[in-house]
Amino acid sequence: MSFLRVARVAEVSEGRLISVSTRYGRIALTRIGDEVLAFQDACTHDDAPLEGGELDGEIIQCPRHGARFNMRTGECLRMPATEDIETYEVRLNGEDVEVKLD
Ligand code: FES
Repeated sequence: MSFLRVARVAEVSEGRLISVSTRYGRIALTRIGDEVLAFQDACTHDDAPLEGGELDGEIIQCPRHGARFNMRTGECLRMPATEDIETYEVRLNGEDVEVKLD
């Protein structure tokens, strides 16, 4: 497992989601206060990108059919999805956001 640079800190802002493509798939990033959160940018219901979904604190709602997930824990909170999303450890390294991927 290693940390991969995925964005610059300045690109990640509160109340917004950005999506980056990596060799491990799409990763979504957002910020809550000083903390940057990273998780898979693919709904477990039908693989829709979560980018563009409505944010409510730690919760994101899938824009396609409305499933909800906790962005910090990955927990699935509402149907039609039933499986959690992956979340990733984040490390800030100077101006860079790095995510632990395997
Ligand atoms: S693809 Fe996300 S709820 Fe259906």
